[in-house]
Amino acid sequence: MGDNNGAKQWNFGANEVVERSSSLGIRDYLNNLMSNLDGQDKRPVIPLGHGDPSPFPSFRTDQAAVEAICDAVRSTKFNNYSSSSGIPVARKAVAEYLSRDLSYEISPNDVHITVGCLQAVEILVSALATPGANILLPRPSYPMYDSRAALCQLEVRYFDLLPENGWDVDLDGVQALADDKTVAIVVINPCNPCGNVFSYQHLQKIAETASKLGILVIADEVYDHFAFGDKPFVSMAEFAEIVPVIMLGAISKRWFVPGWRLGWMVTLDPHGIMKDSGFSQTLTSVLNMSTDAATFVQGAMPDIIGNTKEEFFSSKLEMVKKCAEFCYEELMKIPCITCPCKPEGSMFTMVKLNLSLLEDISDDLDFCSKLAKEESMIILPGRAVGLSNWLRINFAVELKLLIEGFARLKNFAERHSKK
Ligand SMILES: Cc1ncc(COP(=O)(O)O)c(C=O)c1O
Repeated sequence: MGDNNGAKQWNFGANEVVERSSSLGIRDYLNNLMSNLDGQDKRPVIPLGHGDPSPFPSFRTDQAAVEAICDAVRSTKFNNYSSSSGIPVARKAVAEYLSRDLSYEISPNDVHITVGCLQAVEILVSALATPGANILLPRPSYPMYDSRAALCQLEVRYFDLLPENGWDVDLDGVQALADDKTVAIVVINPCNPCGNVFSYQHLQKIAETASKLGILVIADEVYDHFAFGDKPFVSMAEFAEIVPVIMLGAISKRWFVPGWRLGWMVTLDPHGIMKDSGFSQTLTSVLNMSTDAATFVQGAMPDIIGNTKEEFFSSKLEMVKKCAEFCYEELMKIPCITCPCKPEGSMFTMVKLNLSLLEDISDDLDFCSKLAKEESMIILPGRAVGLSNWLRINFAVELKLLIEGFARLKNFAERHSKK
């Protein structure tokens, strides 16, 4: 504190590390695009920028899940603080739920309940961020990993996902990037933003590569079961014998309730590698200083999981698949856009812009800004997920809106095409 020519000085101000980290996030881009919307345009906004279908009638959550929450609140049994890794009934319910699809049983002791999947990302990145360490992230990626790593001053090294190989991981690239300071690799499957699903064989190769490099696999499976193409969803948990895996998930996507903020982080360490290295204790310490998921949502978990019928999941998946197919077919009709891989999972696809066919569009950001202004339509510029002059399109919206959206996108592309 002090005086400078009589003007009072304050000792606090902008934090450049925070500002840099925030500028890597999707929200900054979306907020800027929203500010480009034309207030005079009375048409509904077509929101293909982010993946939250929960407001749309076709993607309303199951009534059984709603009842489970109401019952948990009414019971008054869940008004207390949670414990750091979650209350026992929630940990047990998640362990049983995940074990249904695995070749072995997950122990509730290995399940840590988090505030959505995002808090699991935050906790893990904080726990891994030692001075000089680096983490391997996919490019393109879900940018919250980048923002959080920047905030924790954990160095990021990017490996490529290869569109020409169905967005598989460039494993040679991974090996070339890693050194003895590399702590982990992030694998998002089904993939946001590319919309691909990794095969069993490819996941195994990733696990073997990580084991060779002596690094942890962070398996982000928040879109688990969102696989509607030829490849079934396989969890990285199947490869925990090869390499220590931390599997992340949530009810956000499969139940269409991202606002309920219930996720998990599962430590799969059959050979005690995380334990012996001290990393398990570090994770526990970070969990101990983190906020907990709302106890009544945790208390509802046995009924949310137990009472939601398979029919709910299959009908919603069918709807997402229909949207994905429509999106792909329409994209094929737009000359300035190339979709290298038909989406087969998650809620997104990545498409390449052919700028040489457009006359007054300079790049992906310009494309998205003008699209917002002229057509009241929001699409995320690829640079927000690490690929400039690409676009990330969310197709999980009400089909009627998607149809309207593609009509607008085609008009826009035509209007801006070289004549
Ligand atoms: C790949 C990925 N990981 C994590 C998250 C965060 O999930 P949640 O909304 O449960 O916090 C998202 C959200 O969209 C995501 O796409």
